[in-house]
Amino acid sequence: MGQKVKRIGVLTGGGDCPGLNAVIRAVFKSASNLYNWKIVGIEDGFEGLIRESKTRTLTSADTRGILTMGGTILGTTNRGNPFDFVDTDGVKKDLSSVVIENIKKLSLDGLIVIGGDGSLSIANHLFKMGAPVVGVPKTIDNDLSVTDVTFGFDTAINTARDALDRLHSTAESHHRVIVLELMGRYAGWIAIHAGIAGGADVILIPEIPYDSGKVFEKLRNRFLGKNGFGIVVIAEGAKPLGGDVVTLAPAEKGRLERLGGAGNRIGDDISRNLGSENVDVRVTVLGHIQRGGSPTAFDRILSTRFGYEAVELIARGDFGKMVCLKGQDIISVPLEDAVSRMKSVPPEGQLVKTAEAIGISFGR
Ligand code: F6P
Repeated sequence: MGQKVKRIGVLTGGGDCPGLNAVIRAVFKSASNLYNWKIVGIEDGFEGLIRESKTRTLTSADTRGILTMGGTILGTTNRGNPFDFVDTDGVKKDLSSVVIENIKKLSLDGLIVIGGDGSLSIANHLFKMGAPVVGVPKTIDNDLSVTDVTFGFDTAINTARDALDRLHSTAESHHRVIVLELMGRYAGWIAIHAGIAGGADVILIPEIPYDSGKVFEKLRNRFLGKNGFGIVVIAEGAKPLGGDVVTLAPAEKGRLERLGGAGNRIGDDISRNLGSENVDVRVTVLGHIQRGGSPTAFDRILSTRFGYEAVELIARGDFGKMVCLKGQDIISVPLEDAVSRMKSVPPEGQLVKTAEAIGISFGR
């Protein structure tokens, strides 16, 4: 096993998330300990393989002490899709053949792409063009269908839960409604997990378009007795019945639209509706704080297991695959399956039912 392989590359693509460095460290350690391979770190995602390659050979000094660090020592970008590359002249070009050429020039016998659905789709296309690629799923959003969970998610929900604990005490002291807007793009995983863990009264997620009237009703009930207060958690991709998501910027230059503003929209609506009853509303947008910081123990372990398994895929010559978690096991699936379907919160699933059973409103 691993006989013909001498050098492998590793890159991190898309938005950063806690645990990326733990994967890089596990890749470096297992590939050098088990197989004595050279590891080439590719900088700034696929951009490091477009035109002049931006790479450095990793040494043990590079990976020392990075297990606990957020971000990625290799840098990343959520632009730089080689199949749809927006050049300095603003014109879109397909530079995928340059990437294939650079993989050959760098003598990479395997390339580990650590990314979300965007980077893994690119990896899949490069695999179809003959590149020896394997994937590792990351995203705080946890919206990749074939893995039970992506690394980074656990850290993000703990950060959001900590924010909710803090907001709880101030909401209670001032008898206010506090709205917390969380990330997650078009999936409500972060919002529902953090909301349940943080004792929210209302959780609004993209999968269940909300009826504002039901939200007001729930909050009004919270203010019936003495010293009422309310906590509303809203996913950035949530929308009212018949309404749309709120965006900060449209999709452009190969980037997806930027979501944001859902918290202020529901906050304003609540103010208008309950203001006459002297209910004060405040909105907090947690934003990129959810993407930063040191990974939890769960994410460090998952990242480490993923990194090792990605090395084993290359050793077996099992390219075009992505590692994933199924139950207690790390297995692999074709990249093609990994990127074909988004994972959403089932509106009638056990998680939503549990939340509703304990009195949390989804505005329905
Ligand atoms: O996919 C991860 C994520 O943090 C989403 O939750 C969020 O919508 C998006 O990335 C933000 O992207 P950017 O870093 O480009 O603002």
